[in-house]
Amino acid sequence: MGKISKKILFSRDAIQKRVRELAYQISKDYAGRELIIIGVLKGAFILMADLIREMSIPCKVDFAGLASYGAGSESSGKVVMTKDIETSIKEKDILVVEDILDTGLTMQYFVDRLKERNPKSLKTCIFLVKRKKRKVNFKADYVGFNIDNCFVVGYGLDFNEKYRFLPHIYVIKK
Ligand code: XMP
Ligand code: MG
Repeated sequence: MGKISKKILFSRDAIQKRVRELAYQISKDYAGRELIIIGVLKGAFILMADLIREMSIPCKVDFAGLASYGAGSESSGKVVMTKDIETSIKEKDILVVEDILDTGLTMQYFVDRLKERNPKSLKTCIFLVKRKKRKVNFKADYVGFNIDNCFVVGYGLDFNEKYRFLPHIYVIKK
């Protein structure tokens, strides 16, 4: 593989502004309810930490591990749960927080699994949504940014486990 170059797509400031807006909207929508937020590892860990600290309502948190990507940037098309949540979600209000929607397969799989457990409500907050024809018709309830069909890293997102720590979101070119 050749050298990778990367360009800022969303700066730390732009990210923070958008996270605040999402947190405001979520706080308003769930006011007076008991919200459980489920983050999808590893990509959503930074977003989740930022989001809940910008919210003005209390919430509980849990994490799930899902994998659809092998090494590299191509979806394997097969999703597996590598870590289940530890909380009972039956009759609870659930918000799933995910870093990015690409083919839609990961979120569709996860939401289907969670719905089998009969939550009271289940919505999704996805920070980046790629504009492309998805393999499944999945619609997120809260979206940070719609982006072109490119590969992005930083702010929790990785390429072969690298770049998650970067504070901005970058597009990478190979
Ligand atoms: P699907 O195709 O199931 O993919 O919607 C969702 C998962 O694939 C990963 N993904 C990316 N990770 N930059 C990344 O760092 C990207 O541009 C990208 N596109 C997809 C991600 O793990 C997500 O949960
Ligand atoms: Mg992910």
